[in-house]
Amino acid sequence: MNSRPVLLQALPLLPWLERQLAERYTVQRLPAPGPEREAFLREHGAGLEGLVTSAAHGASAALLQALPRLRVISSFGVGLDQLDLAAAAQRSIPVGYTPDVLNDCVADLAFGLLLAVGRRIPEGDRFVRASRWSAQPPTPFPLGRRVSGAKLGIVGLGRIGRTIAKRASGFDMEVRYHSRRPVEDVAWQHEPQLPELARWSDFLVVITAGGPETRHLIDEAVLEALGPKGFLVNVARGTVVDEKALVRALQGKRIGGAALDVFEREPHVPPELFTLDNVVLVPHIASATVQTREAMAQRVVDNLDAFFAGRELPSAA
Ligand code: DGY
Repeated sequence: MNSRPVLLQALPLLPWLERQLAERYTVQRLPAPGPEREAFLREHGAGLEGLVTSAAHGASAALLQALPRLRVISSFGVGLDQLDLAAAAQRSIPVGYTPDVLNDCVADLAFGLLLAVGRRIPEGDRFVRASRWSAQPPTPFPLGRRVSGAKLGIVGLGRIGRTIAKRASGFDMEVRYHSRRPVEDVAWQHEPQLPELARWSDFLVVITAGGPETRHLIDEAVLEALGPKGFLVNVARGTVVDEKALVRALQGKRIGGAALDVFEREPHVPPELFTLDNVVLVPHIASATVQTREAMAQRVVDNLDAFFAGRELPSAA
């Protein structure tokens, strides 16, 4: 008889992580949505004690319902907006996640995107590759915006928001932030009105949590306030930005530009964005470095190991 805890793996994981899990647990893979998944859950759902998922895959109320003996969830990532935390709490199921280890990488990407869109780096790359760089001065390439000394507005001053703010001092940027309440132990100025922060900012970086409370926080009014001098960078969740309003603002050149790591309905990206030069697009890669993904994988294992050894989860949501 198998005495190892049985886990449900909701998505393909890093090979290292899959090996670690396989060494300790009996792992069952969740089939793709459809009749095969339904049949699998009917047959195996009651035998599954742990769920390994990710920030993007989450765990819906329906999935949790199909796992009546579930005892622990271990999620790869920091975002919790796709996890039904209320349903888990009701059943006293602890939820592990992977905070902190990705702060630096997400902050790095925020700055990468900020520089890319402000200094028109991808546009310059396309320009050179298309052999449009002529020897005749002046260069016909359009001018970018200075990043050093610019005003940086940050929407959400959690762990990653603070890490982004710290990066800004190396660029002599002035930092202000918007959050529901002022953060006590920081020197950066709190701006309670988001449109005011947008009006002030040269670069507005969004790094607040996703979910219903922040849905479309960046709306038409905020984009109007940001105006043609301002650039939007989103490394949070696509749902925080009203994507249709953003497309209109970019098409009308009513903001300077946008750099986006996240989208409202990933992996769908509004096709209107593909033809615009004032936009930089990347496929949700903020934490996607070897070192960070390995550290996240280690947290997933640590959370599960702690739970099945009868200890508190080291990183509980
Ligand atoms: C997360 O962990 O929530 C991030 O979005 C991953 O990049």
